[in-house]
Amino acid sequence: MEAKKGWLGIEDRVVIVTGGASGIGRHVADTLKAAGARAVIADMSVENGQLLDGSFCVSCNVGDKESVQSMVDTVVQKYGRIDALVNNAGINMPRLLVDAAGEKPEYELSEEDFARMFTVNVKGVFLCAQACARQMLMQGGGVILNMSSESGKEGSQGQSAYSATKGAIDSFTRSWAKELGKHHIRVLACAPGIMEATGLRTAAYNEALAYTRGCKPEELSTDYSKVIPLGRDGKLDEVGNLVAYLVSDRAGYISGTTINISGGKSRG
Ligand SMILES: NC(=O)c1ccc[n+]([C@@H]2O[C@H](COP(=O)([O-])OP(=O)(O)OC[C@H]3O[C@@H](n4cnc5c(N)ncnc54)[C@H](O)[C@@H]3O)[C@@H](O)[C@H]2O)c1
Repeated sequence: MEAKKGWLGIEDRVVIVTGGASGIGRHVADTLKAAGARAVIADMSVENGQLLDGSFCVSCNVGDKESVQSMVDTVVQKYGRIDALVNNAGINMPRLLVDAAGEKPEYELSEEDFARMFTVNVKGVFLCAQACARQMLMQGGGVILNMSSESGKEGSQGQSAYSATKGAIDSFTRSWAKELGKHHIRVLACAPGIMEATGLRTAAYNEALAYTRGCKPEELSTDYSKVIPLGRDGKLDEVGNLVAYLVSDRAGYISGTTINISGGKSRG
């Protein structure tokens, strides 16, 4: 949380962070708050009115239209406006297209797994963006920031469906920026690469990922010196700092693009 009040000029800005109860979203909410913004955590694991490190929480399932509208209504009722939406909630279930070894069919991509990832990562981003954009249109402007992933551009062994959801987010970002720019709404995305562990990296996740990569969970590499030019994984606060900048007017001419934050690993 290095962002200080002042330079960014986001004091009192109302910023919804979906999936803000854990991992990257939690650090984003904390960084925004440290810079003076009113971060609102919209997450399915919180209760309405709960405070997390001082940030107001609203219970929300981003894949459910009614739940999203109710969350947006609650925020507008409380704060009167929405200056930015950080569309961060996401899930990742490593799955192979075909389990060629034939040992663990549960790690082959099923229709159910496909639907779960696309419901949260793609439909959830669309529903939240639509509900917030309606409010931003009435206000005369705003920012929508979608949390993508390096894998959306690069692809990822054992994570094809997840990567496809992030590719969809990058595409939404480009199109929505073209639709909403004339209404002073910027739409952009950021794409983290390999980050320090979050709630997403559960034991079940590690086991599935290891199988898709033909190794044991304990053999999943943590030696990043050869694969990441900066030689380390990314800090969650580094994503928080990027997001705080991107939602601020300091980034006022950036729209319709996905910014990599991957230590030099991703291509442009
Ligand atoms: N961790 C990484 O290395 C990494 C890398 C690139 C991109 N990302 C992206 O960053 C975002 C956050 O990932 P993370 O690693 O912090 O994950 P995380 O599992 O730590 O946190 C995700 C949060 O989203 C919430 N959530 C899940 N489904 C939801 C739903 N339907 N409605 C509302 N909230 C829901 C969870 O309760 C949780 O608080 C995701 O979009 C992920 O794809 C993460």
